[in-house]
Amino acid sequence: MIGRIVSCSLSVALALAVVPSVARAGAGGADTPDQARPVTGDSEEHNPYTGNPAAIEEGRKLWRKTGCYSCHGGVAEGGVGPSLVDDEWIYVPTDKTLFKTISEGRKGTVMVSWSKELKPDQIWKVIAYIRSLYQGDPKKIIW
Ligand code: HEC
Repeated sequence: MIGRIVSCSLSVALALAVVPSVARAGAGGADTPDQARPVTGDSEEHNPYTGNPAAIEEGRKLWRKTGCYSCHGGVAEGGVGPSLVDDEWIYVPTDKTLFKTISEGRKGTVMVSWSKELKPDQIWKVIAYIRSLYQGDPKKIIW
């Protein structure tokens, strides 16, 4: 009789010990900075010009004309601004995130909004140019 009571309360104690650690693991996984980045309601989520040679060439000209090169380098190799050709990004580099970064800028940094200089169509062409310069791991391409 006494033996049964002891083993019963033991299993309750074990169950209680397991539950909080499961809950912690679940909460931590959902809270990475990338997923926390707000997304806009834009209908266009993907660059219509990826891999399009004419658009890439236009994007290259806009890259120079607008002055992106002064911070990111002539072929986006990095400078004052980060390199855009390797696989290290501040945020997960979806087309949408790049578009938002270029059109709205990044608050609190010298990366300002370029929506006065570049129309949405032109922003996509600049992104096509940036993508054409990529030298990181091909397996990490998500665009
Ligand atoms: C005055 C310097 C400056 C200029 C000019 C500039 N940038 Fe930036 N850019 C930055 C900095 C600094 C960051 C990093 C912002 C941050 O910390 O989030 C950045 C970030 C970015 C990112 C995101 C990188 C990442 O890892 O998430 C992209 C894409 C980008 N710039 C594209 C452009 C394009 C396209 C232009 C031209 C239209 C441009 N930038 C002009 C300084 C500049």
